[in-house]
Amino acid sequence: METLIPTINRLQEVFLTVGAEIIQLPQIVVVGTQSSGKSSVLESLVGRDFLPRGSGIVTRRPLVLQLVNVPPLKERLKSENGIKAEEWGTFLHCKNQIFTDFQEIRKEIESETNRGTGDNKGISPDAINLKIFSPNVLNLTLVDLPGITKVPVGDQPEDIEAQVQEMILSFISNPNSLILAVSPANSDLATSDALKLAREVDPEGRRTLLVVSKLDLMDAGTDALEVLLGRVIPIRLGIIGVVNRSQHDINTQKTLQDSLKDEQAFLQRHYPSLASRAGSRYLAKTLSRLLMHHIRDCLPDLKTRVTVLSSQYQAQLNSYGQPVEDHSATLLQIVTKFASDYCNTIEGTARHIQTSELCGGARICY
Ligand code: GDP
Ligand code: NA
Ligand code: MG
Repeated sequence: METLIPTINRLQEVFLTVGAEIIQLPQIVVVGTQSSGKSSVLESLVGRDFLPRGSGIVTRRPLVLQLVNVPPLKERLKSENGIKAEEWGTFLHCKNQIFTDFQEIRKEIESETNRGTGDNKGISPDAINLKIFSPNVLNLTLVDLPGITKVPVGDQPEDIEAQVQEMILSFISNPNSLILAVSPANSDLATSDALKLAREVDPEGRRTLLVVSKLDLMDAGTDALEVLLGRVIPIRLGIIGVVNRSQHDINTQKTLQDSLKDEQAFLQRHYPSLASRAGSRYLAKTLSRLLMHHIRDCLPDLKTRVTVLSSQYQAQLNSYGQPVEDHSATLLQIVTKFASDYCNTIEGTARHIQTSELCGGARICY
């Protein structure tokens, strides 16, 4: 099934071509206290190792990560030029450089972070923009953010807590963002800063999903079953437990694949009744489902905007007289047709989505 997301991306291109205001794409934003596992969660969603992770403040600038699905290299090689790599990345701040080594991507994130903030734990609201092209990703935009922290260290300002909160709020107050609130299983959910911030902008919980990390680090004799079942704090979109790589795993370069395998084994052993509704893979599936529902909800508005745009350009076309003689008018004509074609595609896909069974067993309210 063709997903809605490439369609939305094409629409976005149309809007850009005609110089219209950009559509606010739904994006997934991770929120949580420092070292709760936000960057680790994002990495497992992408399926590659490339984000700086670790104890202390590692993520110090927002990272806007756009995943772009491309055909496998084998197929791309058949058609003339293009990039000779299965997966690669590019940064907005050095557009022409192509990164095929993901370790280099991580290094570039680290250097660019330091360029923007200095190397003594400073933070900055200026985002780093990274695109990753791969046959193995869903078309998603993800945002990694610095964690909530209370006490300034290094070059951090006195009001570090307020500054980070403001940065987080500027991303999650966008009604088109899905909030991935990450809360470690070894701390009390009732004190979760992630949930507290999410509630500020999403009091009804329509776009907040709770990820409970570090299931493996709970005290002996305790487990997260009550939390995962939503009996402590219910979350409309769902609560998903995960086990990411520990610092030791990072130090010994445990692969993501091994980590996913061990995560499943852990869940089977400790949470057999929930194993099919927990873990990083299930999180990825849930997110893409939510994203589609989210986009579906934006459709009526998008449709209106495209229609208005079309008629505006139609009027301009008419006032030009003979469009064949005029290059810009011809372009406008193409764009108008393109936009209206995509409107129809969107409606068709939306109908398809509404009639198909997408909600699985999760408690999803979209
Ligand atoms: P962030 O600061 O929220 O982005 O957190 P990171 O992803 O950088 O992780 C912080 C530290 O916690 C790293 O040392 C990770 O290895 C560790 N960590 C994250 N998630 C888990 C988990 O589920 N289990 C264990 N044992 N360690 C984790
Ligand atoms: Na950290
Ligand atoms: Mg981080």
